[in-house]
Amino acid sequence: MRIVLIGYRGAGKSTVARELATLLECDWVDADDEIEARAGKSIASIFADDGEGHFRDLETAVLRDLCARERIVLAAGGGAVLREENRDLLTAGGKIVWLRAAPETIIVRLRADAGTAARRPSLTGGGTEAEIAELLEQRTPIYRQCADVTVDTDPCAPAEVAAEILRQLKLDS
Ligand code: S3P
Repeated sequence: MRIVLIGYRGAGKSTVARELATLLECDWVDADDEIEARAGKSIASIFADDGEGHFRDLETAVLRDLCARERIVLAAGGGAVLREENRDLLTAGGKIVWLRAAPETIIVRLRADAGTAARRPSLTGGGTEAEIAELLEQRTPIYRQCADVTVDTDPCAPAEVAAEILRQLKLDS
């Protein structure tokens, strides 16, 4: 079983992936970590040096390799669902979990998570709040369309989100 966590930046995908993998006693991988390891630089540097298109090509290559693995929890980047090719990779043989978060929650989490700012370059050139509003409007229908199950993360700690995922996927017995 492969479980793929999707959702916007700040939805808690990496933290929840780690919790879930502990509960399931399996490996977890953050696709952004893998991209940075392969490129030998931060996502912000990839965007700045090579452009978003190159980042998206690296992302597709990494997703292809990670989706060949079984018994893994995969935290996908917030834009991983944008390409049809990626959606096909993620949905083939995997359960897709959309971690949903309100814009206000996303802003608070991104501000608190300054350590990962280097992997979150601006995607629109606009301010943080305008960018979140614009991209959530574009992406929400795609997240919804891909998801086998959806968990609202606003009121929940990561451990509670992980437990809810297992409950919804009927893996908690
Ligand atoms: C992106 C989200 C980031 C990272 C890159 C692009 C996006 O991942 O892949 O900055 O397009 O939303 P996280 O969602 O893990 O922050």
